[in-house]
Amino acid sequence: MGSKLIAPSVLAADFANLQRDVEMVNNSDADWFHIDIMDGVFVPNISFGMPVLEAITKHAKKTIDVHLMIVDPDRYIKTFANLGSDILTVHYEACTHLHRTLQAIKAEGMKAGVALNPHTNVNVLEDVINDIDLVCIMSVNPGFGGQSFIENTYNKVSKLKDIINKKGAKTLIEIDGGVTNKNAKQLIDAGADVLVAGSYVFKSTNQIETIKDLKALANS
Ligand code: DX5
Ligand code: ZN
Repeated sequence: MGSKLIAPSVLAADFANLQRDVEMVNNSDADWFHIDIMDGVFVPNISFGMPVLEAITKHAKKTIDVHLMIVDPDRYIKTFANLGSDILTVHYEACTHLHRTLQAIKAEGMKAGVALNPHTNVNVLEDVINDIDLVCIMSVNPGFGGQSFIENTYNKVSKLKDIINKKGAKTLIEIDGGVTNKNAKQLIDAGADVLVAGSYVFKSTNQIETIKDLKALANS
């Protein structure tokens, strides 16, 4: 078991065969389920909500990593805890009182994550980094799967890694959007710990093999 983690994004699964795809992830080398919740306000798309998450958690045997792309996420912290989320990630851009939101997530027994849009500088997290379990660096603009990877992400990962080291924090760095075997190794070398992969996994012909190879590459 390597220490770098792979989180398939269920957004790219076949929703008419959701149980089959969840079992595939259960039986693979993947570490987490990445679950994208979009409200059509914070991002220009609506994905799925509580009933679908409930259906996933019923069968999922791995860590549930929920990525909230919604405005005012504080309203739903308890709900996502009750639905079995292990990690709850909110967007920096959607939180007026981020520090308070992070404490509220942890008070419900979950790990607290913060996602940053491509235009948001990692420096904004410097004063709160010791309170964050996971930073999700968006390597595409949130809202859709299957977009191309933004190259500036490597710089952001290195800068964030420096902040984490300087502050002696234990925060994990997750990369979300356009991850493939072409950028995985460079992301890990820059300081990433968790790679989210949606289309690259679910649109491949042998999903189990794709996950296995990506995990091996991340830990090479
Ligand atoms: C984008 C989502 C991502 C997405 C990744 O808003 O947050 O998690 O599902 O999909 P791919 O890997 O296809 O870019
Ligand atoms: Zn996501």
